[in-house]
This record gives sequence, C-alpha cells and structure tokens, in this order.
Amino acid sequence: MRIAMLTGGGDCPGLNAVMRAIVRKGERVFDDELVGFIDGWRGVIDGEHKPLSVEAMRGSLPRGGTLLGTSRTNPFKIEGGVDKARQSLEDLEIDALIAIGGDDTLGVAAKLFDLGIKTVGVPKTIDNDLSATEMTFGFDTAVQIATEAIDRLHTTAESHHRVLVCEVMGRHAGHIALWSGIAGGATMILIPEEPFDIQAVCDALTRRHEKGNFASIVVVAEGAVPKEGTMSLVSGEVDQFGHVRLGGISNVIAAEIEERTGYETRVSILGHIQRGGTPTAFDRVLATRFGIGAIDAVHDGEFGTMVALQAGQIVRVPLTEGVGQPKLVDPDFYHGVAEYFFAG
Ligand code: F6P
Repeated sequence: MRIAMLTGGGDCPGLNAVMRAIVRKGERVFDDELVGFIDGWRGVIDGEHKPLSVEAMRGSLPRGGTLLGTSRTNPFKIEGGVDKARQSLEDLEIDALIAIGGDDTLGVAAKLFDLGIKTVGVPKTIDNDLSATEMTFGFDTAVQIATEAIDRLHTTAESHHRVLVCEVMGRHAGHIALWSGIAGGATMILIPEEPFDIQAVCDALTRRHEKGNFASIVVVAEGAVPKEGTMSLVSGEVDQFGHVRLGGISNVIAAEIEERTGYETRVSILGHIQRGGTPTAFDRVLATRFGIGAIDAVHDGEFGTMVALQAGQIVRVPLTEGVGQPKLVDPDFYHGVAEYFFAG
C-alpha cells in the first residue's frame, strides 16, 4: 500500500516516535511505501509531501517536535480545502492516511472518513484531554518538565519569601497542572474544572504565612476560571478550530494576590517549554505502541478508527468517540488527593 501520514495541531514530544514505528512496520513487514505530508492538513491541501523510509527516520526516536512540521489548518474552514485535499490524495495515489493529532486533527480525519477517505487516527496532545484514551503521549513529558520547573521555583520562593505563581498549559483541562502540582508539592493548584475564588486563595496563603511558611507555589492551569463575578479576564484570539489562545492568566492572579495579601508575588509562565525537547521513556514507548497499532489498523482495513490506550492495552475506537467531549480532571482526584496538601 501507499500510506501517508501527517502531524497536526500543536507539536508534542513523541510525534517522531509514532512515525518511526509506522514506517518501520509498514516498510519492513508490509512492504508499504510511506509518505509524509508537510505541516498537517496544509500539506494535504497543497499536495506538499516527502517520502519516508526506515533510513530517513534514523535518529528520530528521541527528537521532540515533528520532522514533518505542523499547522492548525482546517480544510473545512478553507474555501475548496476538502476538494483540494481529496484531489492531492488521488494524485499521489494514497491508499490510506494516518492523522496524528489532537481533537481538531482527528475531528477532520473523522469528517473526511465520512466523505469516503480512508483515515486512521493517532491521539496526541500534551493536554491529555482526549476522552477515548487513558493517556496521550507528550503528557508525561510535559508533566516532568513542569515538575522540574516547580522544584526549581521552590528554592527561589524560599530564599526570597515569595509567592511564585507557575502557569502551565492544558487548555480547558487541568491534568498538567494537577499532576505537576501534586508531584512538585504546590501550595495551591487552580484548574479549569474547579473555578477558584481569588479571596479564598489569598486567605489560604495568609493562613500559611501566619504559620511561619513564607514561601508558596501556586500552580495555575492556563485555562483556570475564576468563580463568576470574582475577577475579570480578557479573552484572546480565536484559531481556525474556534479555540481561544490561552496564556497569561497568572499575571492577573499574581497581581491580585500581591495586592490582597501584601506578599511579594512573581510569575513564571512555562509556555512552550512544556512541549519542547526529548520525550520521556514512557512517551517514547506509548508513541511506538500507537504507531504500530495505527499501521496494523490500516492493514486490517479498520478505517474511521483511532488507536487508544485502555486498561493498558492498545485498542481501536471510532474516531468520532475520540473527539468532541474532552476528558476532564476527575473531581475525586482533586478533592480526594490534591486538596489535602493545599496551603498546609
Ligand atoms: O494543545 C496543546 C497546547 O499546548 C495547549 O496546552 C495550549 O493551549 C495550546 O496548545 C497552545 O497552542 P499554540 O502553540 O498554537 O499557541
């Protein structure tokens, strides 16, 4: 078969490991010809692609980012985008397309499948917010990076008797904040699923300081939301998939904390550092398993599906199941574990 792949949406540690696995089994076991589209759906629309081979993928396993490039292009939002995509798949004689991405990229793959294009999906995102899979690769790496950052912030907070607000990514889910906050021993963790009251946060910090603990780390998910009527925030730009660009809420939170408590409060926004660099061993292995699962799905003719991790096994689920409803933080995890350590 002639099989194409693409990486769409935000880059993520482990993308190259997925492609390496697809190429390895495709070329060596199935005698496939493999190609990669450049910059996600943009490359499919424009027909921009390159051949991929076991030789070309050498050295890619530990590399972060994506060797194919990525974009947030949505063919359904571009005039003639879907027809152009269909045409280039025909022109290049592509038998099947493996889309590696988050809910947006996989949502496009699901719609194209409904239009008769043979697609298979691989779930990817540092946010870990895809409902069909227990884990996405990239999440473990992002949590590791954020935890290391929090560990480092502790020493400055302690030396200067400061409150340090550390903002992490995750879009509208608090998984990265919760995991890194627990692992890093945060004083408070603010996540989108649990709207916060800034005065309650300040009261907790004050109680902690009154007990003689003058250093505090507040981990804030970029999508954290204040309880209605307690604080106002400015909304950012919207992308082709209708997502608001998040980032910066910690500046507003830090200013409020400093004003309400009088404690010196500083901000560290980790941003894309969480998506960069080499994947952890866990992410390399999960990405490799997903890649093998995807090429097997293609050869079993199971189009319109995506691979997922469920109960430790790689399974196939309909693409439509993986997109739409995000997987949010389990309230029991927040209240039944994390909260015991807040402002102690
Ligand atoms: O979905 C991954 C993610 O890193 C989110 O956590 C974040 O909100 C978003 O992508 C940022 O996207 P971009 O790099 O396009 O600004």
